[in-house]
Amino acid sequence: MGRPVIIDTDPGVDDAMAILMALASPELEVLALTTIFGNAATDRTTRNALTILETAGRTDIPVSAGAVDPIAVPFKGPVPFVHGENGLGGTRTISPTTEVTQALAAETIYTLASDRPGEVTLLALGPLTNLAVALDAHPDLIDLVDEVVVMGGNALVPGNATPVAEANINNDPEAADAVFGAGWPITMVGLDVTHQVNLPGAVIDTITAASNPGARLLAEAIPLYRAFFEATNNIDGIYVHDPSTVAYLLEPDIFTTDHWPVRVETESFSRGKTWPNMGDTDDAAPPAWRGRPVVNVCTGVNGDRVVELLADRLTKGG
Ligand code: RIB
Ligand code: CA
Repeated sequence: MGRPVIIDTDPGVDDAMAILMALASPELEVLALTTIFGNAATDRTTRNALTILETAGRTDIPVSAGAVDPIAVPFKGPVPFVHGENGLGGTRTISPTTEVTQALAAETIYTLASDRPGEVTLLALGPLTNLAVALDAHPDLIDLVDEVVVMGGNALVPGNATPVAEANINNDPEAADAVFGAGWPITMVGLDVTHQVNLPGAVIDTITAASNPGARLLAEAIPLYRAFFEATNNIDGIYVHDPSTVAYLLEPDIFTTDHWPVRVETESFSRGKTWPNMGDTDDAAPPAWRGRPVVNVCTGVNGDRVVELLADRLTKGG
């Protein structure tokens, strides 16, 4: 069996790509999907998660619904201009036939991590509320997981939700500050690297022409997302934020990393900004960072290899 992974997710077009990529990777064993608001409200991202698993023929994987609002404020609302009215790039009603587990996301995360101490990786593709809720209820969770890999944040580059903040972190800065400060092994795959990974139009065309059921779903989901990137970022193709985390799990050596404590701004116009402390550590660190654990922050990536891995996994089978 591959490396056991729980995917906490807000599908979401790029989440769908990441989930399908993980399912097609024998190096990984997807234990569960836990859902969160972000690209759409939680009831919608939950239906999308169920639909993605049904499409891939993996209804053996449980789905647990997560928080509907951030810790401190109400959910800001969906982004249909990026991910479509249904959160999967379209307007058709998504009606899965399978159902969620009774347990909520935070409890599913704790239970599965407790069942296999030291083995399970948490792959977080949306706002970090479920992880923060799980940590608050079960502080020993930090010793139970193997690694936490987060798509989110921007250490040295501008934001995408605001001029300074990345969307997942901006959707729940309080949760993100708790998760980056928890003291577990954590890797940040943020815009510093995901804005270096452009999946070009020609490769998108190859993926969406493939005959496997996941690719057929993506053929429906990607066009609106692609049009959004082409219009707003002036690129031919799309940034593959969430799939880059799966590439990190498969081949961490294609990323370069720095090791900095990270705080998340919770105030004012820079709310949601991830701030690394690149200077003094320990007692000489500025008070806000003093005593904070170090985060493995991805700052460089072989983008061509991420594209190659993604295309390989999404075009398999059929
Ligand atoms: O900023 C990119 C992130 O925000 C991705 O996880 C995308 O799916 C959205 O949630
Ligand atoms: Ca996401």
